[in-house]
Amino acid sequence: MHLIRRNRILRQSPAIRAMVAETILRPSDFIAPLFIIEGAGVKEEISSMQGYYRMSIDLTVQEVKELWGLGIRSVLLFIKCKDELKDNAGTEALNPDGLMQRSIKAIKNACPDMVVMTDVALDPFSTYGHDGIVEGNEIVNDATVEVLAQMSISHARAGADFVAPSDMMDGRIAAIREALESKGLSKTGIMAYSAKYASCFYGPFRDALDSAPGFGDKKTYQMDYANRIEAIKEVLMDVEEGADIVMVKPAMAYLDIIREVRDRVDVPVSAYHVSGEYAMIKAAAQMGWLDENKAILESLTAIRRAGASLIATYFAKDAARMVVG
Ligand code: PBG
Repeated sequence: MHLIRRNRILRQSPAIRAMVAETILRPSDFIAPLFIIEGAGVKEEISSMQGYYRMSIDLTVQEVKELWGLGIRSVLLFIKCKDELKDNAGTEALNPDGLMQRSIKAIKNACPDMVVMTDVALDPFSTYGHDGIVEGNEIVNDATVEVLAQMSISHARAGADFVAPSDMMDGRIAAIREALESKGLSKTGIMAYSAKYASCFYGPFRDALDSAPGFGDKKTYQMDYANRIEAIKEVLMDVEEGADIVMVKPAMAYLDIIREVRDRVDVPVSAYHVSGEYAMIKAAAQMGWLDENKAILESLTAIRRAGASLIATYFAKDAARMVVG
């Protein structure tokens, strides 16, 4: 055979493959989610997320320093609220001395350059486990948005660099931007969970924070996974309303959405490689059915290749070690 084009030439050695690789992972691509609980010296493994922990503030701070040392540049904070502090108004979410606010301060104190992002939604604080205020069977939009705006101010005042509204209420990005501006918090950014689908892959996360919805599901605010055009509508509106970074969530089953969003916006796109995606890899690896490290790198590279420049992932630390090592 005398072939004119031989594609295998570019695949024949690790050196050539490295030269022509189109997608490269860096530790600063990863956002490390952290689950924080009250107490001191407390580290609890999450049963459905083996190898992942809820930690008290002191241990979280140590973890953040370690992440920084590995080249990770941002963390996304979630707190587990005590049951007795939960209500239907998000009261504890606004407490200036609440666990979230104390966590932000402690992290910024210990590691000032780490970019601290905070989850903004009511579910960890809600007796109903819903992302908003409940009236009857309804998760009411406008009253919820007011609380989310106040919550964002509170996080920004505590030192958060970005607030990350994960609630999917309408109009919250504009309301949050406006609220931040009204208090002179003009440096605080917004990473919007813009195309967040109602997904079964959040199951383990809800175990982590004990935040599963008490009634119904989240389908009246999170998106239907059958929809693609709607994701573009959500993302474009969030950008118009002031989102600095938009997000698609989950990641692996939504690579088409990530790509399409990437092609349509002029802001950074992030993707959330969620708890259920973590759990699947962990479980299969534990059974000896998958090579864990290879599965991690392939998954994260695919998400990056689809168009996400940032990936929130529970594998942030493992991946950071692998991509520099
Ligand atoms: C809450 C929130 C959820 C996640 C991030 N923020 C759960 C939900 O919407 O029910 C999921 C993260 C994960 O599964 O890793 N607003």
